[in-house]
Formats: sequence, structure tokens, C-alpha cells
Amino acid sequence: MTEKQLSGEVYYPSEEILKNANAKCQKLYSFAEKDYLGFWESEASNLNWFKKWDKVLDDSNKPFFQWFINGKTNIAYNCLDVHCENFRRNKIALFWEGENGDIRSFSYFALRRDTCRFANVLKSMGVNKGDRVTIYMGRIPEAIIAMLACARIGAIHSVVYGGFSVEALHERLEDSQSKVLIVADGAFQRGKIVELKKIADEALQRAATVESVLVVKRTGQEINMEFGRDMWYHELMHLPIASSRCDIEVMDAEDPLFLLYTSGTTGKPKAILHTHGGYMVGTYATCKYVFDIHEEDRFWCTADPGWITGHSYVVYGPLLNGATSFIYEGAPTYPYPNRWWQMIEKYGINILYTAPTAIRGFMRFGDAWVKRNNLSSLRLLGSVGEPINPEAWKWYYKVVGGERCPIMDTWWQTETGMFMITSMPCTPLKPGSGTKPFPGLQVDIVDEGGNSVNTNDEGYLVIKTPWPAMLRTIWNNPDAYVQQYWSKFPGMYMTGDSARRDEDGYYWIIGRVDDVIKVSGYRLGSAEIESALVSHPSVAEAAAIGLPHEVKGNAIHAFIILRTGYEKTDKLIEDLKQHVGHEVGPIAKPEQIEVVDSLPKTRSGKIMRRVLKAHALGIDPGNISTLEE
Ligand code: WTA
Repeated sequence: MTEKQLSGEVYYPSEEILKNANAKCQKLYSFAEKDYLGFWESEASNLNWFKKWDKVLDDSNKPFFQWFINGKTNIAYNCLDVHCENFRRNKIALFWEGENGDIRSFSYFALRRDTCRFANVLKSMGVNKGDRVTIYMGRIPEAIIAMLACARIGAIHSVVYGGFSVEALHERLEDSQSKVLIVADGAFQRGKIVELKKIADEALQRAATVESVLVVKRTGQEINMEFGRDMWYHELMHLPIASSRCDIEVMDAEDPLFLLYTSGTTGKPKAILHTHGGYMVGTYATCKYVFDIHEEDRFWCTADPGWITGHSYVVYGPLLNGATSFIYEGAPTYPYPNRWWQMIEKYGINILYTAPTAIRGFMRFGDAWVKRNNLSSLRLLGSVGEPINPEAWKWYYKVVGGERCPIMDTWWQTETGMFMITSMPCTPLKPGSGTKPFPGLQVDIVDEGGNSVNTNDEGYLVIKTPWPAMLRTIWNNPDAYVQQYWSKFPGMYMTGDSARRDEDGYYWIIGRVDDVIKVSGYRLGSAEIESALVSHPSVAEAAAIGLPHEVKGNAIHAFIILRTGYEKTDKLIEDLKQHVGHEVGPIAKPEQIEVVDSLPKTRSGKIMRRVLKAHALGIDPGNISTLEE
């Protein structure tokens, strides 16, 4: 990389890492800098297309950018069939361990076979190209098979995280107008069963569009099966309709691949739309270069398929690269705090990609738990979801990585689909910095007026050039897409994060500038928690904010005004927490609920959460001129 002396604490890659890295860094950056469309085009050329594109980018209708115009492909074809046609047919695509110790693995051949069989099942349920299918499961192989089966036949998958609950699932079913729901009977989590089917039954009472429910047996407890609507996956997969021959739907590069709901500033979660062509190219290239995937590697991204990290780097990125991906069903520290380390040793994992909250959680148990296992197979580490504090970074580097594994701190979003600011194996690292934009991206930090800020000044993080894996729109709401991402600074994509850039051009993410709260790396919105609170008969008004938390990064604190006739009791507060858990999901449960007489509002009636936050932290609330008397 650069010859220039870098400021601050810097960790340089070893000769070994540099020698073997896929990304010959400087070359990649300079190629992309000179010709960013040429760079993406060359990456696209590594994948298989039924018909080549006429043009790489169409920006004639900004901000509705289109990529690989008139190109025809199918991402599932590139994930499976391509590898089955060559030397990877017998390679392990996916191996899995259940929390209870169950083990399964799939070669590329087997994963394609089961995907085809399930795709035929979906077809027999009347699922056609463009139809939406919701997937609500734990971390089990069937979740991945279901995603790939949808992609294969051109259906649009909408995966709902298994940690979400009744109302969250209902909203997503309703908004996506899903025809089919694929659900597991339950999921193992900390030795207990999360009753997914039971939650789904309740959500289905509120949602009308679902015609068929396909149920995967995982936990085996008694569940309700509604005649005519609910069917067992394992039974369907043994019927003659579930043939292992299933034609691939030829998809236009711009045809939708999936919807993924995510929290924004206002209202309900919105469905981010990604496509077959651009998303495929973006996840393929970033996964290859950043995680430096080699043929013999075993890659473990600990994310849940229900979040973008799971979509891009458990499923699509690794499979597009013909890699071997590992998934684990359960809780990180169950039954002992070395569960993860045991599995790294057992499966010989080379690349581990996880979140700062997990690292901080492990730190609490001390080094000894990590040192019980042999982690010498690890070569590269990754971090995602929130800024990693330098203390956690150093612990991860030293204790988990044995001071030989560079850490890829990857900044990106559901909307970006792929890594945006990230180190690569060849990058000199500074603990806590995501380092630099990925090749082919133009990123900046600007002030209120949209002008670049000075070195080390804080400002809004924006992206100035389109990229292939970018969201195309918000499902059914193109106006919100324009409004939310492209209106504050015309011509720039507004990320919702604040950041600063140091004298070496390294980016340091500070955090969200909106009402998105990152709890243990999970993305939630103040609005969802507030609307769950006010759906309880006792609550008149509510405001939810995130406050710093040692392990979770942020924890939710809620302020409520009670309706007349209700009194503050410990029981009521506990009931309210449970209620939020039941409606949104356990991750959304407030840490603390405070009963207040009034909430700070603007004269137009908007709650000023910033003022609540400043008050809770005992800091200056800044400009409060719009505050109501
Ligand atoms: C935050 C997750 C600092 C950021 C992939 C972003 C990060 C939001 C990092 C998107 C990181 C993600 N360093 N902050 N490496 N990665 N974030 O959509 O605030 O669930 O805007 O996507 O997570 O969250 P999302």
C-alpha cells in the first residue's frame, strides 16, 4: 500500500497474508479509480450470464439507477449449478451444527438437488415469478434452501428474522402480500424452544394473503397444523412433485431477488428491494476480496439469514465464490462460553466474521475460555454491525486471532447490499476504523450544506457514485426511497450515519444520526418500539431511545405517559416489556421504562428524542429552539 507513515496505532499485514491475498490492493484501487464501471464490469464477467448486458449502468432516471442493462442471469444458478458443472460438485457448500449437537452437511450437488426439489414444491403451490414468499425460521439449512429455491424460480423472498415476533411478522406478511409462508415448528435457543409456528399462527390471524404454510420440523414439539393451509416440508419433499429437476427461471439483471425489511427513521419497517444482477456482482466481488476466499477455506459468518449480513455473507457471497460456509443454530455461549471456539477447532474454520457485541460478550468470560481450544486454523477475522471499540478490537486480534489474523471491519447497510467501507487483507489497520471505501466507490463526509468537511471533523456519511448492489427502491413506495435516501443532499446517497475521516483518509464511523437504534448489532427503530408500547391499553404516548450499553452497544430506554386509570407498578412495567417482546420480538424489549408526565415535543408535535437522550446522559441537548413550551 502506501509508503507514507500512517498516524496513530497501526497494525500491518504479515508477508504471508500479503503474498496470498486475492486482492492485489493497490492495483485494484487504481483500476477502479480510473474506471469504476470497468471494474464492476470485469467482476460481472467472472459470473455466468445467459445473455450479456448491453450497458453497465443506466443513470438516466436518477436516483433509480439500473445495472447490467438487458443482462440475463439467475443468482441461484451462479450459486449452485455453475459449481455442479465443474470440479466443485462434491465440495461441501454448507455445513451446519444445531445447538443440540445435530450435524448436517451439503455438497454443492446436494444443495442444488434439495433446492430444485423445494423449488418444485413451491411451484406446485402456485408460486410464480414475482410472487412473494416469506421465510420465518431459525438458523437451519432449510432457510437457505428456501431462499435459493425462491431465487431459482424467480419468486421474491422476504426473510423475517426468527427473533421477531407476532406483529413484526404480521406487518411483513401484509406489506409484502406473501402467498406462502415457510416456517419452522421451532428453533433451539439457549436450550429452550422458540415456538416459531405458534407465533406465526397468531400473526396469520392478522394477515390475510397467505394461502399456504410449509412447516419444517426442527424441534418436534406438538404444534397446530391447520387443515388445508399447513403442510409439512418433509412430507412434501417426498412427493413425486418434488423432482430434483427444475428449470432455472431466466431473470433480467434488474428483476427483484428479495425484500428485506429494515428500520428507518419514521413509521413501520420498510422493504428494501435487491435484484438478481447487481446484488450478485457486488456480493461476489466484496466477499472474494475482503474475505480473501480461497478454494480450501472454511468460512463462518455468524449472522442470521434473517438480516442482510446473513443474506450477503452466509448465503449469496460465499456460494457465488464456491466457498464452504458453516452455520450454527444456537446461542454463542451455550452450553459453555467456548461453544464457538470448540466449533472453530472442530471444523477448522479459517475465516470468522461476527459482530462487536459478540466479541464484548466473550471478553467478559475472560481469555481462558478461548484458550481452551486450538484456533490456529483462523487466518482472517471480520467485524460488522456497529463501530468496534478499540479495546474489543485488540482483544479479538490478540486472543482470538493470535496476533496473526487481520480484522476486516466492514461498514455497510441493508440498503447497500455489500461492503462499502472496509479493510482488505493488505490494508494497514487502525483499531476501530473501517479504513477505506471499497474500490469503485466514492464516499464522502459532508456538512449540513452538503460540502465536504475538513479532516477529522464529524459530518454526514454519504455515497456519491452508484454501486451494483445498491437498493433499487423501497417496495411499493418509491417516493419514500427518494425522500429517505436522496433528498437531503441532492445527488448523494445519505447513509444515516455520521463519521469523520482522519489525516490518512481512514474513515471512523460514529453512529446513526436518525432514530435507528443498534441493539447488539440488530437494527431497530424508535417508531416500532413506540408503536408496540402504545398498542398496550395502559399507554397513551411513548418515546424510545438508545443509550450506551457495555455489551449490547446500545440498550433501549422508553419513556411513557400512562392513560388515566392506570398506575405505575413494577408489574405493569414488566407487562409492558413482555408486550413489546411479544409484538416486536425479544431483542426490542426495553431495558428500562420510565413513566413521565410529559414528553419533549416540537411545536408541530414531534417528539424530540434527542432531548430525552441528552437528559438521560446528563449532557447539553444542543439547539432546543423548536421545543414546545
Ligand atoms: C451500522 C448491517 C460501524 C451503521 C450490515 C449502519 C456499522 C447500520 C458497521 C446498518 C461497522 C454496520 N462499523 N457501524 N463496521 N456495520 N454499522 O442495515 O450504523 O442492519 O448504518 O446492516 O449499522 O445496519 P444494517
